[in-house]
Amino acid sequence: MSEDMNFVTVQEMAQQAEYTKKVRDMIKDKQLKAFVYTLGCQQNEADSERIRGIFLSMGYTVTDDEEIADLIMVNTCAIREHAEKRALSVIGRYKHNKARNPDTVIGVCGCMPAQGHRSEQLKHSYHYVDFVFGTGSLHKIPEYVYNALNKGKRIFVAESDKPKIAEGVPVVRESSFKAWVSIMYGCNNFCTYCIVPYVRGRERSRKMQDVINEVRTLVNEGYKDITLLGQNVNSYGKDLDGSPTIADLLNEISKIEGDFWIHLMTSHPKDASSALIDAISKSDKIANHFHLPLQSGSDTVLKRMNRHYDKEKYLSIVKELKEKNEGIVFTTDIIVGFPGESERDFEDTLDIVKRVEYDSIYTFQFSPRKGTAAYSMDDQIPEDVKKERFERLNEVQNEISKAKNEAMIGKTVKVLVEGKSKNNDKIYSSRTEGNKIVHFSSDKDLTGQFINIKIIRADTFALYGEI
Ligand code: SAH
Ligand code: SF4
Ligand code: F3S
Repeated sequence: MSEDMNFVTVQEMAQQAEYTKKVRDMIKDKQLKAFVYTLGCQQNEADSERIRGIFLSMGYTVTDDEEIADLIMVNTCAIREHAEKRALSVIGRYKHNKARNPDTVIGVCGCMPAQGHRSEQLKHSYHYVDFVFGTGSLHKIPEYVYNALNKGKRIFVAESDKPKIAEGVPVVRESSFKAWVSIMYGCNNFCTYCIVPYVRGRERSRKMQDVINEVRTLVNEGYKDITLLGQNVNSYGKDLDGSPTIADLLNEISKIEGDFWIHLMTSHPKDASSALIDAISKSDKIANHFHLPLQSGSDTVLKRMNRHYDKEKYLSIVKELKEKNEGIVFTTDIIVGFPGESERDFEDTLDIVKRVEYDSIYTFQFSPRKGTAAYSMDDQIPEDVKKERFERLNEVQNEISKAKNEAMIGKTVKVLVEGKSKNNDKIYSSRTEGNKIVHFSSDKDLTGQFINIKIIRADTFALYGEI
């Protein structure tokens, strides 16, 4: 099969361009405004930047104020129950927008409605929603909006598990110095707790040249921090007959001239190869930071999670990364309270956390997701036990984070200035290559620039320094 089968055809994109033009003609001189509410991970953030790009191309202006919006999209997440509850409550409040102005167009997209039962729920209980699609039909927003503006039938798209990649969708980026670049979509791993493979379909890689061109353009436009996105970036290229690999891609990107950082989000330990680790250590562009989701430190739990690595393999990757990259910063994701997790299993997780010495971790309490294998596993853990383990894990990590941050005092580090701090006008926030927050004061606005900061103080979650 030709790899072009993975892409939305030129004809289909041209058809959407027609709809874009029709919408533009229809709303001309009306000064309509569009708003998108984003929940979920960086992948959704990246998708929302494309949604805004499409809004703009249709002649809407983008607003941050949902109260005055004529077109509203909710880009949802389904990773945990909490995320879905929030999505439903956000969608719920737009009922009033429609009641106030019946011409308001409302769409729901993202991971939540990619599940049949949620799409049905939106159809039957949220009558004011005009169109609903999953993550594979974003490029068709012009068609859906045109239909809604013409009071056509409500649209509910059943997504395929092999959605196609749409190249050339316009994008409006949030930041002028930090950017997301998706290098692949979907996931093949079916970790037993996770909904992502069901809602984002199978792995599809973008062509290496398309990725490189996008990164080069961003660097030329002055972007300083570029995150390559994928549910498991380590398997990049495997659907393109195994070549190019993520290591090939990183080696090529490292040849681009300029002062910038490349981050990866996310790497699966089972596919972390020596070639990848070497590509990172050889390059001065790829950040000395590795986000390596652990999920659990117990071999039996890892097996039931279908993660395809054990404690020993995980620690060997960490060791190789540490040996080849001095001062590398590790971060991770951990789930507590997976079905059947015993106190012993949990202690194995604490043990790894202490041994790796992550700079920070993201801890989650297991949330059963309908349709996944872990949903119906025996021995579900009571909520109070999950909560207690969650708190204990964070206590252990907080001490490590604090010690690691304190060890930075006196050192001079390169940071990217992100902007003024929320609470104080004279204080700026910045981030290190390892994603640590550094506050400092400055009379000059250095937002978007790399500068060197000497660290003078540290606490658990942040560093403080001077220029
Ligand atoms: N593709 C990424 C993760 C995407 S989801 C990866 O493999 O690393 C982000 C994190 O959410 C996961 O790493 C996991 O720790 C957490 N997560 C996923 N499903 C969950 C669930 N059902 N309950 C609790 N946490 C979950
Ligand atoms: Fe979910 Fe596992 Fe895929 Fe990550 S690798 S998205 S945790 S199934
Ligand atoms: Fe959520 Fe979908 Fe991301 S489920 S975490 S928005 S891939």
